[in-house]
This record gives sequence, structure tokens and C-alpha cells, in this order.
Amino acid sequence: MTDTTADFLGRLTAALPSGTVVPGAEAPERYWHDWSGLAPVRPLAVVLPRETEHVAATLRLCHEAGIAAVPQGGLTGLAGGAHPIAGCVVLNLERMNGVEEVDPVMATITVKAGTPLATVQAAAEEAGFAFMLDLGARGSCAIGGNISTNAGGNRVIRYGMAREHVLGLEFVLADGTVVRSLNKMLKNNAGYDLKQMLIGSEGTLGVITRAVLRLQAKPTTVSTALCRVADYPAVLALLTGARKRLGPSLTAFEVMWPSFYETMYGGLPQLRRPFGTAGDIHVILEASGFDPGRDAERFEECLAALVEDGVLIDVIVAGSERETKEIWAVRESVSEYGRVLGRIIAFDIGLPTTTIGDFVERAIAALTARWPDVRALTYGHIGDSNLHLVVNVPSAGQHQPEHEVDDLVYDMAGAAGGTISAEHGIGTVKKPYLNRSRTPAELATMRRLKQALDPKGILNPGKVV
Ligand code: FAD
Ligand code: LAC
Ligand code: ZN
Repeated sequence: MTDTTADFLGRLTAALPSGTVVPGAEAPERYWHDWSGLAPVRPLAVVLPRETEHVAATLRLCHEAGIAAVPQGGLTGLAGGAHPIAGCVVLNLERMNGVEEVDPVMATITVKAGTPLATVQAAAEEAGFAFMLDLGARGSCAIGGNISTNAGGNRVIRYGMAREHVLGLEFVLADGTVVRSLNKMLKNNAGYDLKQMLIGSEGTLGVITRAVLRLQAKPTTVSTALCRVADYPAVLALLTGARKRLGPSLTAFEVMWPSFYETMYGGLPQLRRPFGTAGDIHVILEASGFDPGRDAERFEECLAALVEDGVLIDVIVAGSERETKEIWAVRESVSEYGRVLGRIIAFDIGLPTTTIGDFVERAIAALTARWPDVRALTYGHIGDSNLHLVVNVPSAGQHQPEHEVDDLVYDMAGAAGGTISAEHGIGTVKKPYLNRSRTPAELATMRRLKQALDPKGILNPGKVV
């Protein structure tokens, strides 16, 4: 450690309450990496603020000394955005955890940024509402991380991405300036809407410390079905039919190709498999409503019509909460990839929905031509045009051909008019490919924004742009 670094750490420790700064040598390994699979990096120090003012003091000192600061939430991010870089200060918000207010008339909840998503959901329910952002990592990810990645998840088709759930934010700029913009109103056109700039910026433009979130009425009925269809045109017919018949009550449309469905059931024997037949595409359909007398019947009528039209081969409707969980279990088993496949190369691409079936066939053919033993699993939030592809080449063992697979998939996605990231963000993992999805003018504007808000480049440097 150089003298200047030691001085900096001394100033940082003196500026914050005791126990807030953990020197790198003592920092637990869990702060050294996120879920992206990148090699762990020991930071210079981990700062665990309890107050916005602690975040501001840390950034002021980092800015002054030119030391990088890497914001962290629950570390479930898959793009390497929260991954430490050598010599950085990690700013992990786990102690800024708590619900500050539920306003039943405005239908808002105000929370600290380190609050786990599941805690926000539970607090909303306790107050008689629902917070409708939902994803598999709900127990571990933090709301600040969700907002910073503009997370998607399972209910985007009805309620939108994280952006749609945010009314106000408090955030701290790279130089320590605190911006309080805790708006609760649905309508507020007084100048630039600064929060939009922070949402999805992956910790590169500011550190979010508080959020005002939109609550929804809690549906009184939830109907869930597992549908079996023969091919992708039938998936599209199911989506169109379900939208038409269920309208705004359609809350999830999750598709699992046989590659995903068979591999996960095969690799995780503890899962109970509702359907026995292999080879078809499975779709989880969820509808939520407010009419306990009619909703289940309406849902079944919709499914019966789709069977009659020849769209569905077969369908199971969950008759209890246990059966609902059983239907979702395979879709939610994605945290088990390591156990089922070993090292993976994961994608989060977006494509026009009509082209996804053809893309899956072409991508798997191209991967198989290059790596004959490849395992390529496809599934995703197809109602939102978001396809997940997970690749493993067994013969490559620990040395997966990451860059070659990335090149192949991103070239194909670009040529198909898609995006390299529909929901997980760019971080470091996808940074070399950002120009496949953004024009030179878009990239230049992003850099100008970054330069204006973080002229010394200390906030999460090397990420996104
Ligand atoms: P982190 O990983 O800690 O950080 C993510 C990014 O946000 C980093 O760039 C970090 O610097 C920045 N950041 C974190 N907190 C702040 C803050 N307070 N202020 C400024 N910047 C901050 N994602 C989806 O979109 N949809 C899914 O369906 C989905 N499913 C998942 C399932 C599993 C099993 C796993 C492991 C991940 C999944 N993810 C999904 C990815 C991940 O959970 C989300 O990206 C999540 O929003 C990240 O939240 P986090 O708190 O873990 O953030
Ligand atoms: C999912 C995550 C990986 O949808 O985004 O499973
Ligand atoms: Zn997803």
C-alpha cells in the first residue's frame, strides 16, 4: 500500500462511524465478486454505510483522491456491474435496509436502497398492497440494485420493468452531492426527470440511497397454468390468444424450450415434473384478477378455447398454492446451473417476438456446427421479447470458449435487429458488444453524460461505457 493510499484510508476511516470501513485485508470474500462468474477481486476497502451522508462522505473522499468506488447491492447481478476492480472502494449498501413509509393514499412505499426486494414485497403485502416487480433473485437482490439495473423479471408483461415502479429517488453523485428527488406524484413535469437517468445506469452515474416506489392493488385471484405446445408458431398463437382473452389480467408468459425443460428436470431430480412427454415447448401462463366469483372460470374458458383451436396440446391448471409453486419450480431453478451444467455462458438478448423461434433454431444450429457437443438451453420472458440462452461446451471444461460464443450470438442477435441485453445490463461482461446495440451517436451521448456527472471517472469505472 502506498503512503497516499494509506492516507486516503485513514481519512475515510476517520470520516465515518467506527465499523463502517473494512480494510481490504479483512474484507469477507463475498464482497469480492458478484454472480457474473468473473474471477474475485479483493478491494482496497469495503464501506458499509448506514446513512446517505456516509455514502456522500465516501464519494467526496474518493473523488478528491481519484479512487474508484464500486456500488454494490445484493450482488446477484449477472453482468459484472458490481464486481470490484483493483484498488477500488466497494460501497455496499446492505446496512441501508428498511422500509421508511407506506402511504396508502398515494399508493407508495419509501425504502432505503439496500432493502432486499422480498422485504419490499412483504411490506407492501402487509399494508394491503402489492409491489409487482419480481424476479428469481428476490430474496438476495436489493431494490437499489434492481433500480440500477432496471431489472425485468416475470411480470413485465403487465407491470413493466423496474423503471415503471419508481416515482422518486434520492441519490449521491460522484463528487458527494446529494440529490433528493423523492417525488410521490404520478405526474411531475417540472424540468428534466433526473431519476430516469439513474435507472438502469448500473452504478456509473450516481449511488441510489432511497426510493419511492409505486404500489399496486393486490389481486385477489391468481390463476396459473402450465401449457404444452408443439412449436414456436403455437407459442405466438398462445400469446396472442391469451392477450385477447385475458386482457390486462395476463401477468406472466414464460416460455421453456425442451432444451431447458428436459435438462433442468434431468439434472434436478428433486423437482416434480407435472408433464411426462418430452419434446414440446412449455409455457407458464399466469392471470391475476379481482373477481373471485368469475376469474378461475374465465381463465379455464380461455384455455379451453385455445385447446379447441388446436393451439394447446395439453394444459394443467394449478389447483392449490403448492401446485402453483410446483409449476414455477423448474423456471425458478436457474440458480442451479452450476450444479446441472458446470460453467456457463449466459445471454439475455431481446429480439422481435415473432423472430425468436427462428433465432433459437439458427443459433443452436450454428453453435452445434462449431462445438458439436454444445449444450444450449433456451427459455425466457417471451411475452416481453426477452430470450435467455445458456451455453456450455462440456469438452471445454473450465475453459469455456466465452468470447467465440459471445461473438457468434451477439452477431446473430445484431443482424436480427435485437439487443444484447434486455434486462441484465452491460456491466463489464457485455461492454465490448455495446456497439452492436447502440449507434455511435447514442454511445457518444452516453459518454457525454458520464463525463458531465463523473468528470474524474471514479464511479464504477470501466463499466457500461
Ligand atoms: P448488484 O449485483 O449488487 O449490482 C448490480 C448493478 O447495480 C451494479 O452495476 C452495481 O454497481 C449497481 N448498484 C447496486 N446497487 C446500487 C445503488 N444503490 N446505487 C447505484 N448502483 C447500484 N435480472 C432480471 O432483470 N430479471 C430476472 O428475471 C433475473 N433473475 C435472476 C435470477 C437469479 C437466480 C439471479 C442470480 C439473478 C437474476 N437477475 C435477474 C439478475 C439480478 O438479480 C438483477 O440484475 C438485480 O436487479 C441485481 O440486484 P442486486 O441488488 O443484486 O445488484
Ligand atoms: C431469469 C434470469 C436469469 O429470467 O433473468 O431466469
Ligand atoms: Zn430473466
